[in-house]
Amino acid sequence: MSLNDDWRARSLRAVWHPCTQMKLHEGQPGGRPGLPLVPVVRAEGVWLHDAEGRRILDGISSWWVNLFGHNHPALREALVDQLGRLDHVMLAGFTHPPVVELSERLGALTGLGHAFYGSDGASATEIALKMSAHAWRNQGEPDKTRFVGLAGGYHGETVGALAVTDLGIFRDAYAPLVRLAATVDSPDARGARAGESAADVAERAAAALAVWLEANHAQTAAVILEPLVQCASGMAMHDPVYMRRVRELCDRWRVHLVLDEIAVGFGRTGTLFAHQQAGIRPDFLCLSKGLTGGMLPLSAVLTTDAVYRAFWDDEVARGFLHSHSYTGNPLACRAALAVLDLFEREAVLARNRETAAALDARLAPLHAHPRVRHARRTGMIWAWDIDTTLPDFARRYGRAALERGLLLRPIGRTLYLMPPYAIDPAGEDGSGAFLARTALEALEATLAQEGEVAPAPSAAPSGTGAIDAV
Ligand SMILES: Cc1ncc(COP(=O)(O)O)c(C=O)c1O
Repeated sequence: MSLNDDWRARSLRAVWHPCTQMKLHEGQPGGRPGLPLVPVVRAEGVWLHDAEGRRILDGISSWWVNLFGHNHPALREALVDQLGRLDHVMLAGFTHPPVVELSERLGALTGLGHAFYGSDGASATEIALKMSAHAWRNQGEPDKTRFVGLAGGYHGETVGALAVTDLGIFRDAYAPLVRLAATVDSPDARGARAGESAADVAERAAAALAVWLEANHAQTAAVILEPLVQCASGMAMHDPVYMRRVRELCDRWRVHLVLDEIAVGFGRTGTLFAHQQAGIRPDFLCLSKGLTGGMLPLSAVLTTDAVYRAFWDDEVARGFLHSHSYTGNPLACRAALAVLDLFEREAVLARNRETAAALDARLAPLHAHPRVRHARRTGMIWAWDIDTTLPDFARRYGRAALERGLLLRPIGRTLYLMPPYAIDPAGEDGSGAFLARTALEALEATLAQEGEVAPAPSAAPSGTGAIDAV
């Protein structure tokens, strides 16, 4: 048995892998191979290395967490230094330099403060929703407990976060457990009618939210949305004017605005935070993933002085009595400080603009591919909807890419790239050239399989409601 096979077999016996129908890892009827499971033992820059030394380009930053490449020396050094000082201490009744400094710096960068920490993105969503409703309750408005999100919105998969996650594949099995939020139209620019611009679609979606808020504001605590790119529903991109309109509506109807920048924060959309492109400030900002550059789990919720003051009281129960054991873990906070140092020291956003333009040129054949619809990019996120009859396009594409040394996991029929910023667009042997060339080769190889299987009921290109559970 090869080294890879051995790890694979042991993993399948001992580990329950996330977002996976585990049975698919078995061989499939008709001799089709099972879902690949890749044992990774090392990673450096944009490359993952399997147990037998084969390298794979991480084209989706390991579920969108990695920013500067794997095993970045600056992050590694910060962590090693922190390990020699303080591993962990509980954050109730105690504090420590990394959490203080990180909170101060995030506050200075966002104009929001009072950072509250969780471990994963979903815990940040939970914190923001609970804080919002509790703040209204403390202010004498206990009826404001409802939330409204966008069609195709994704905010995590814990039971509370599922309430505002509008993707049936993740939610339907748990429907009886979930107190569903309301859903309004997405400003997804792909919804443009003839003659409409992306801004027109955004205005139309904002008008739908206005109608909803007018009727329901008295019971509504917050609007929650992913600014600029709704990632999990298929990289649905929208015009920044939408956020401006939502901010105006939230002010008008006294409803909090929760922005979930868990996936799009830290430079992904071209600015440090996506909401900066609209010149607005949310009431709650949820951060995670890139917060530690992909090194350690950490999330943070930042909020306004007004919200913080709503909890400041002699009565304990009016405080925010939420906690996670690892809240504000010093190692994770140190990694986050090293990330902020890199943004300060190196002109990351300017360099990303150059990288994106150079990669655009390399991706021109993919943009122009006859099966591509809605070629789009925001910052360092590229997406294309593929017009294919394959019902399991994502799974087949993922396999074709992996066979060629590239990690890409389409969402439904949406193919996308979200590479680490360390991707090198220069030179024919560079990682950018490999990424562009291999993404196209894998597309051709996947489309060539169309004759082998019965077509999907609808061949319309769509990522919405689909999953990356390949
Ligand atoms: C926008 C957004 N919110 C929340 C989450 C949930 O984060 P986590 O998987 O860390 O719980 C994700 C994860 O992909 C996300 O993209």
